[in-house]
Amino acid sequence: MLIQQRSSWRSCTGAAIPLETLHELETFVANQTRGLFGKHLRFQVAAARSNDSQELRGLGTYGFIRGASAFIIGAIDRNTDNLEDYGYLMEQIVLYATQLNLATCWLGGSFQKDNFSARINTQPHEIVPAVVSVGIGAAKRNMTDRLIRNVAGSKKRRPWDQLFFEAGTISPLRPESNGKLSPVFEMVRLSPSASNKQPWRLILEGNDVHFFLQRNKGYRKSMFSDLQRIDMGIAISHFDTVCRELNINGTWNQDQNVVPPKEDWEYTITWTCN
Ligand SMILES: Cc1cc2nc3c(=O)[nH]c(=O)nc-3n(C[C@H](O)[C@H](O)[C@H](O)COP(=O)(O)O)c2cc1C
Repeated sequence: MLIQQRSSWRSCTGAAIPLETLHELETFVANQTRGLFGKHLRFQVAAARSNDSQELRGLGTYGFIRGASAFIIGAIDRNTDNLEDYGYLMEQIVLYATQLNLATCWLGGSFQKDNFSARINTQPHEIVPAVVSVGIGAAKRNMTDRLIRNVAGSKKRRPWDQLFFEAGTISPLRPESNGKLSPVFEMVRLSPSASNKQPWRLILEGNDVHFFLQRNKGYRKSMFSDLQRIDMGIAISHFDTVCRELNINGTWNQDQNVVPPKEDWEYTITWTCN
């Protein structure tokens, strides 16, 4: 599964993406305009056309990314503020790029906002909440990449009993107790998240799966967008992708009656199995 193939890759060779591949990526990206919450978004590929990633260096990633030959930049309306949809659609793009054998990395902090905003020509009502670097992955991760992964603990994920629960007593959900949805939950667990904080909590209640955000205290820094809401969109994107792959039909809706079981959980959305 593509979800299992993906990992953040900060070391690229600098080689340009072959034109045919780039064209496929651009076509896919241009079609990502509406997410689950229904608001309009736009994404664009900024790619180096020559074999020279220097062309993009001016955009600025504070040295976090080496040799990327493209970036996916998106803009949202700061008033409708649909960060979950931004995460949802951008992760669809990340998985598509993975399928094209491209290396990607989400950047929510380590990118120079002004330069990227200028590149996508943001209007006064728009913001660029995060971007994704894309490139031809180097055979090995460089030192910076390895260091960042160590600090964030990128290889690890929280165990099931900290992420997935059964309604009522909110007792932990066990992989063997939920049949066909088990691989779906597992692929949510593999989602990337800002600093690998994994703030998603899911509750299974009959045919419903409710999604909640448990924020990390002090994590939200004023100069960044609300990255943990983007994390929620990414988890929802993985859930939706795996359901489609496994032919599990369901519908998404926001249920006004759902009450978070814990004070510090924020309700996001519910998926109902048909
Ligand atoms: C919304 C978001 C923002 C991120 N921002 C950065 C960033 O600014 N710099 C960086 O090096 N990695 C960033 N990452 C990558 C995470 O550190 C990475 O996804 C996490 O450690 C898990 O590792 P993996 O993607 O290899 O599975 C971000 C990821 C997400 C989802």
